[in-house]
Amino acid sequence: MGGGQFFESRSFFLLSSSPTLGKLTHVVLYKWAPIILGVALLSGCSSKTAEEIVDLEDSVEIRLDKGESQPLIAFYLGGFLQKGDSLASIAVQLGSKWYLIKPKPSTSPDLQALFDAAGEDKILQWEEFEPVVRSSYYRVRNTPLTVDSLKALFGDWNVPGWFSYETRGQMTEYRRRLFIKRENIKWSLEQLDSPSDAILYDEGTAIIGEHLDQGQIIETTAMIKRWDGYWDYIAYGKNGQLALSVAKSEDPLLVPTQCIGCHYGNRAFEPERSFPRDARPGPSGERAVYVPEFWKNQSLTSSINEHVKRSDHVLGLYATLFLAEIITRSKKGEATAAELKLIDQLGID
Ligand code: HEC
Repeated sequence: MGGGQFFESRSFFLLSSSPTLGKLTHVVLYKWAPIILGVALLSGCSSKTAEEIVDLEDSVEIRLDKGESQPLIAFYLGGFLQKGDSLASIAVQLGSKWYLIKPKPSTSPDLQALFDAAGEDKILQWEEFEPVVRSSYYRVRNTPLTVDSLKALFGDWNVPGWFSYETRGQMTEYRRRLFIKRENIKWSLEQLDSPSDAILYDEGTAIIGEHLDQGQIIETTAMIKRWDGYWDYIAYGKNGQLALSVAKSEDPLLVPTQCIGCHYGNRAFEPERSFPRDARPGPSGERAVYVPEFWKNQSLTSSINEHVKRSDHVLGLYATLFLAEIITRSKKGEATAAELKLIDQLGID
């Protein structure tokens, strides 16, 4: 799994140092070298107070030795922040290294547990990091405890205001029924000048995936867009209660550490990769996007390139299928003025 795609994302930009900030960081390092780092500069502020200077000796290094550790660290640590807080208040990135700053006594016990897990060598390794993350994640994110409470928050998704389609692919052996509010797709498309632009969803967008076994919902997964550009990953079991993993033939997928693997990687999956052509079956059978034939629009699919582009770590084909459906109706003279405006703005028909 490569990391190229990640570097193009907005969320990376938000949480990383830009070239200008990098330069400023060097100035600070020069002044306070070798152990003190001006984190204020990471948030773009040029005059520092004493509180904004962090002593790296009082921090632990997060050294996960994973190809894709960067998004995982920023995603998980960002989950502790209140809206508008800077990640630099709890962790700093210096070159390719991340440091977790000693938490203030008032901060979350889960953040303290993560800091303590580093042990005496003051290096937080994957074996120490992963169990703490997995056992605390839902609590840290204050995740809705049941499918019913998720519905209370977002509304029932089995209504026409939600766009929906079914697929069988590589995330699970089960057939998946996907849901996203039409207004969320519309909002993200309205931000584009051209179909090739990055498709980014608004804060608070939810995408739901129900796993079906002979028509019965046996698992529900959800992604909810956070204010910091990352998504939260959630799984519920057959009983509608939070689950720590999602079933998969060899090993279950663990929340959230393994969700990040595929969603932040750049590997293309079937059947989205081949769409609108048919995909070849996989080891557990058919792989398909179950949509009407007239939604299978090759030129539109190629110009959006949604699955490979995965601008927002979203792997389904929501924008493509949503627009394909509008285009079909527009040809029959059934599209609304707002829909015609949208496809006109994108230069597609
Ligand atoms: C093996 C790769 C893989 C892993 C691991 C994975 N996913 Fe996915 N996920 C996909 C693919 C491919 C799609 C798009 C097609 C689909 O929905 O089946 C997707 C789609 C989704 C969606 C719908 C939004 C979207 O991106 O289209 C949700 C919600 C979701 N996954 C949740 C999770 C959760 C929760 C986990 C961790 C338990 C997880 N995923 C782990 C591959 C993966």
